[in-house]
Amino acid sequence: MIWIILAIITLVFGLVVFRGAPYVPSHKKSIHQAFTDLYPLSADDYLVDIGSGDGVVLRMASKFGAQTVGYEINPILVLISRFLSRKDSHVSVRLADFWLTNLPDKTTVVYVFSVTRDMGKIARRLQSQADKLGRTISLIVYGSKITGIKSVKSVGAYNLYEFHSLQPGKPQV
Ligand SMILES: C[S@@+](CC[C@H](N)C(=O)[O-])C[C@H]1O[C@@H](n2cnc3c(N)ncnc32)[C@H](O)[C@@H]1O
Repeated sequence: MIWIILAIITLVFGLVVFRGAPYVPSHKKSIHQAFTDLYPLSADDYLVDIGSGDGVVLRMASKFGAQTVGYEINPILVLISRFLSRKDSHVSVRLADFWLTNLPDKTTVVYVFSVTRDMGKIARRLQSQADKLGRTISLIVYGSKITGIKSVKSVGAYNLYEFHSLQPGKPQV
């Protein structure tokens, strides 16, 4: 029985690589540095973590007063992150594939710790979201760069990108 459970868990964690990065959590110290030195996060922010793992980024963002949502494809990690964040009203976690999910309209900043392979596609998603909303969206990238796009700031392993609307102030309906 234990072998079957272990096999299912391995399968759930392993299959994720077909849709994005496998689970590796960001370091708490680094996240704190990102929210102070790279992108000073505040209570005015709505942060989305695409591939939220155990929710460590969301809980740290909540300490800065931000509202947060995480999209996570692995149901085991969704349960773990919901349990770890159960007392935090600023944190919510959805079981979802972020490729198939629209970002909330109130999103101000997106955090991603993903594989280089996916970064171009993520950048295109954020540009179309910025165009749709008619305003700028910031993207915090941990551990990789987006080819062909210049970061506005770098701190440690982080790069910050900004996606500006092609028609500022004019949300597309
Ligand atoms: C490198 S981990 C980062 C976890 C967390 N963001 C952090 O920094 O601690 C990537 C996470 O993305 C999740 N993931 C991968 N592809 C995904 C997809 N298409 N939709 C939602 N989550 C995905 C994985 O299950 C994993 O938990």
